[in-house]
Amino acid sequence: MTELGSDTWPPAPITTERLVLRASEARDRAGFIELFASTEVGTYVGGARPRDELERAVPEVPGRRPGAFVVTLDDAMIGMVTLDPRGPDRLGHVRPEGGETELGYLFLPAAWGHGYAAEACTAVLDWFADARPDEPVVLSTQSANDRAMRLAAKLGFTEVERFEEYGAEQWFGVRSPAPRTA
Ligand SMILES: CC(C)(COP(=O)(O)OP(=O)(O)OC[C@H]1O[C@@H](n2cnc3c(N)ncnc32)[C@H](O)[C@@H]1OP(=O)(O)O)[C@@H](O)C(=O)NCCC(=O)NCCS
Repeated sequence: MTELGSDTWPPAPITTERLVLRASEARDRAGFIELFASTEVGTYVGGARPRDELERAVPEVPGRRPGAFVVTLDDAMIGMVTLDPRGPDRLGHVRPEGGETELGYLFLPAAWGHGYAAEACTAVLDWFADARPDEPVVLSTQSANDRAMRLAAKLGFTEVERFEEYGAEQWFGVRSPAPRTA
């Protein structure tokens, strides 16, 4: 991808029907620690990390990088949606040179089951389509991760392939850019 940089980042906060998405701030630190310490969140993404380790390691303003959106509900962090280049060394690509933009999503368990992740991801994908028209977005998740699989399908991702990585079957999909209307 053409990496998201100073021309696009940080964007003005994005407001959806129920949520606000913005770059991270120091007040999100506790929310980041909750996310990465949660065994439920970590089930299919490498496991939870010990809280005391996170308290030491998480920076004052965590997750501040182009493409990392904090999702808030009533001004409190409920999760994050990320767009990152997919490393060329990973399995799963739609371009030989790699570096495709990959969508990621992590929400606090209390926020699951309300459609918040779908609402936030839709807003991020719309934002990306404006920032980088004509670029596909890819996504990979363990195929056992039912919630993540349902969300990927709802967002319009379709399967490219499945492969074994990190000791589990991974589903790799793509969402192609909408054709331009003249
Ligand atoms: C993956 C993850 C973001 C999905 O969250 P989610 O809340 O299930 O996803 P959605 O926002 O699409 O919500 C869908 C659910 O909300 C329900 N819902 C309730 N109100 C709704 C509304 N107003 N609009 C839409 N859906 C609504 C839907 O019926 C659906 O419920 P169901 O799962 O029981 O069928 C979440 O499980 C998570 O953070 N997991 C841990 C991290 C992870 O594994 N990430 C993926 C790595 S690739």
